[in-house]
Amino acid sequence: MGSLRNIMILSFVASIAVAIKIKDYQFGYIEEKKEEPQQDFSKIPGIPGHDYPIYHEVPETNFDCRSVPAVPGIYANVETGCQAYHVCHDGREGHQGSKFLCTNGTIFNQKIFACDWWHNVDCNEAVHYYKLNLDPELNPYTEKEAKAAKKAHLIY
Ligand SMILES: *[C@@H]1O[C@H](CO)[C@@H](O)[C@H](O)[C@H]1NC(C)=O
Repeated sequence: MGSLRNIMILSFVASIAVAIKIKDYQFGYIEEKKEEPQQDFSKIPGIPGHDYPIYHEVPETNFDCRSVPAVPGIYANVETGCQAYHVCHDGREGHQGSKFLCTNGTIFNQKIFACDWWHNVDCNEAVHYYKLNLDPELNPYTEKEAKAAKKAHLIY
């Protein structure tokens, strides 16, 4: 009699345990769906938000496409520690052009017109390299014909 009672108690406890497990699982599932995937900063050298910027969106800044040397062109936004960059084009997107963010851990390297590891880039120098946009070979938005013309000019 005693052992039967024990078994009943055991199976009762077991069913509660299963119920809790299912509940946990459901909660875990809901939590996972709600949260954005967490970025792993441990692989990036330096302190996030201190050594390199971690913007979620491009903030308000004084950047102005009307004071850059060439349009179309791409320009690092120095006020954001170069995490943001702007594509100045035909003005349809306003005087700040189209705004983008480099992935956390990277900032816009004006020398190569691409996001690069923050420790490879001196953001404060970016403005000195704005004029690289005048070079049709480097400017990613230069018309293909202009590039071809320049190549032809170099060859002949
Ligand atoms: C950078 O990390 C912060 C903090 O985790 C996050 O809010 C932000 O969206 C991230 N930025 C980018 C461009 O992924």
